[in-house]
Amino acid sequence: MLARSASTRDRYAMYNANKLKIGLFGSNCSSGRAVTKVPERWSGSWPDNLRLARMADEAGIDFLLPIGRWKGYGGDTDYQGATLETITWAAGLLASTRRITVFGTVHAPLFNPVIAAKEMVTADHIGEGRFGLNIVVGWNEGEFEMFGVEQREHEDRYDYAQEWIDVIKLIWSDQEDFDFQRTYFSMKGIRGKPKPFGGTRPLMMNAGSSPTGQAFAIRNCDAFFLQASRDSLAETTQRVAAVQERARQGGREIGCYTVGVITCRPTRKEAQDYYHYSIVEHADWSAVDGILALKNISPQTVPMEEFVRKRSQYAQGLGGLPIVGDPDFVAQQLADLSKAGLTGVGVSLVNYAQELPFFCDEVLPRLVRMGIRDGRSAQ
Ligand SMILES: Cc1cc2nc3c(=O)[nH]c(=O)nc-3n(C[C@H](O)[C@H](O)[C@H](O)COP(=O)(O)O)c2cc1C
Repeated sequence: MLARSASTRDRYAMYNANKLKIGLFGSNCSSGRAVTKVPERWSGSWPDNLRLARMADEAGIDFLLPIGRWKGYGGDTDYQGATLETITWAAGLLASTRRITVFGTVHAPLFNPVIAAKEMVTADHIGEGRFGLNIVVGWNEGEFEMFGVEQREHEDRYDYAQEWIDVIKLIWSDQEDFDFQRTYFSMKGIRGKPKPFGGTRPLMMNAGSSPTGQAFAIRNCDAFFLQASRDSLAETTQRVAAVQERARQGGREIGCYTVGVITCRPTRKEAQDYYHYSIVEHADWSAVDGILALKNISPQTVPMEEFVRKRSQYAQGLGGLPIVGDPDFVAQQLADLSKAGLTGVGVSLVNYAQELPFFCDEVLPRLVRMGIRDGRSAQ
């Protein structure tokens, strides 16, 4: 028996009328997205994830987006050293919540698509149409070596991902007992039942930053994560408009999202002080430098000024827009992102569960008053 409808539009809207969707990004990993040594940093443990998800579900947060990470980054804290696998994590959280959308972040080159399609359908049934897929092609060489899988050339990664998502969409469709013969796959007599919940398919997103990655998202996905400009709202507006225009040209609609790193405290000074304490004074710089080295960013490869800037950006969440201030300031910044045309924002907090209640109590009602959120979504 269907307890809810799950039309494509319902899934796309995450079953609510919030104009700006707000999600939590990265809580399945130890330390989340803050490369910090502060003792209160996020554990990433299952009990903490479960507590957080239930709290977010009650408070009206729209989605949970995990990071597909297989190997920690080392440093003093072994940053993101303990991570919960994302489809099984999503399944557990979907069983324990009632309205929030939960994504799995799936590395196309590491998962057989027939298995992935069924795992995702299982999670989607558990959540009655609330599972979403973040497709990633991977970038971290060390992770691939651990699997014994060779990392493809950049362009080929997305060609492979195209075949991977094509076969998954076919498995989720009404097709039965079909063959799939392409460049990377040669599969016979494919069959997959049940189909996703409610006769539709899970919401799909991608966050590629290269032109190829962006084109992949525009061709295949419902949601695309792009980088908001740190300096200019006009620039963010333009980035969103450009992606949406390209999607329209291809006869598609796509929602644009971005990543925010929020420090919200009763006063601006308290927020700035905490930010400085956690992300500057107590940053895990050895982990930051390890991550930068993986991305080939060092004083030898980029100008010193850029290296210093990147170092600071990576400490507070591998990039992402820092939003540091009191509730009025944070609400205004989020409202500005909505004004720029963004559909949503995935945010991280140093300790998600400790900081979320204040954010929900103070910032969400302000966004309701500003007309950006629907006050009923928490009910
Ligand atoms: C919101 C967001 C989530 C991402 N999640 C992951 C992830 O979980 N695992 C991963 O390996 N890469 C992740 N990435 C990296 C992207 O998928 C992508 O590989 C990266 O932006 C480089 O773009 P490109 O593949 O077009 O070169 C994420 C990026 C963003 C912005």
